[in-house]
Amino acid sequence: MTERTLSIIKPDATRRNLTGRINAMLEEAGLRIVAQKRTRLTVDEARAFYAVHRERPFFDSLVTFMTSGPVVVQVLEGRDAVARNRDIMGATNPEQAADGTIRKVFAESLEANSVHGSDSPDNAAIEIAFFFSARDITG
Ligand code: CMP
Repeated sequence: MTERTLSIIKPDATRRNLTGRINAMLEEAGLRIVAQKRTRLTVDEARAFYAVHRERPFFDSLVTFMTSGPVVVQVLEGRDAVARNRDIMGATNPEQAADGTIRKVFAESLEANSVHGSDSPDNAAIEIAFFFSARDITG
């Protein structure tokens, strides 16, 4: 089923100028970038986006990291886009990520793991609406 998911290219990756190489991996995996913007999250935005993790011990550090530089937020579209993007991203912990995945190739650490992707179609809809209006997305 054609689906959309939210992707974030994180500050560790924008700092190393990897946006184009990550986008190429997404496109080669069959995903289409139907909306994209480069922005810098405020602390309030990062706290709200990751609110589900607010009780976790890594929350404050995650917010500091996600606001440490620019991010590229994007909507990806394609067949089974949520699962497909998670496949090409690889495991959250780059030490456990499969060969050839974005995190295996580029991630610096469990926190600075280069990309975020929605974990379900329901969360994808919520996360896309966090950053984009329908007018911003051109399929
Ligand atoms: P992401 O997929 O964006 O979702 C939550 C983020 O928290 C995760 O990627 C990592 O960047 C960060 N993080 C830091 N420590 C952990 C941890 N122990 N477990 C999961 N995520 C972590």
